[in-house]
Amino acid sequence: MVRPLEMSYKVKDHYFHKAKAQNYAARSVFKLEEIDQKYRLLKSGHHVLDLGAAPGSWSQYASKKIGSLGKVLAIDLKPVSLNLPNVVFLEGDVNDLGLDAILSQYHFNPKFDHVLSDMAPKTTGIRFADQAASLELCELALGIAVQYLKPGGNFVCKFFQSQDFQTFRQEVKKYFSKNYVCVPKSTRKESKEVFFVALDFLGH
Ligand SMILES: C[S@@+](CC[C@H](N)C(=O)[O-])C[C@H]1O[C@@H](n2cnc3c(N)ncnc32)[C@H](O)[C@@H]1O
Repeated sequence: MVRPLEMSYKVKDHYFHKAKAQNYAARSVFKLEEIDQKYRLLKSGHHVLDLGAAPGSWSQYASKKIGSLGKVLAIDLKPVSLNLPNVVFLEGDVNDLGLDAILSQYHFNPKFDHVLSDMAPKTTGIRFADQAASLELCELALGIAVQYLKPGGNFVCKFFQSQDFQTFRQEVKKYFSKNYVCVPKSTRKESKEVFFVALDFLGH
């Protein structure tokens, strides 16, 4: 039987209710919260690029952590209906963004403290196709991180487990001095996702 990488149904579990109670747009906020608490990433005044941002819970969390001196640029194929003073939500495909023009249009510094990618492809149920699509998004996110991170910056990227794990891991390691792989407690048991947490971008 072919099983999708992410189950298509969504069980309303403990984290779902917790997210709702705290007014977060999605339960996935607790993955970023755990990663942030473990690796101490987001600080006041930081600039964050949030790739695959809809429905917006990672941006909500980052917005609170970085405060009024910080800024988030959040991009997704889907629109986000949140209004946060330090977040610019843009609807678009990360594949063809024209980031340079966007950064100058919205007065972002050209370099970010963090590039976060929770991007996930629309799953088909065909394991190899879904894994390949996830890898493609991870490579895209890494390319953007390498181009737009400050030296010393950090990269967090969701990856669907596959035979390409080691290859992608080695690729990420070329650019960061500290590299970790994290499966947050709130990741669903049936999910094959892991997060690369790459710290201290070495620059060019
Ligand atoms: C798991 S959701 C992100 C959840 C989000 N981090 C949150 O906390 O609300 C994955 C998102 O990746 C987006 N995505 C997938 N491919 C994309 C692409 N090429 N460009 C922009 N967004 C993309 C999807 O539209 C989807 O909304």
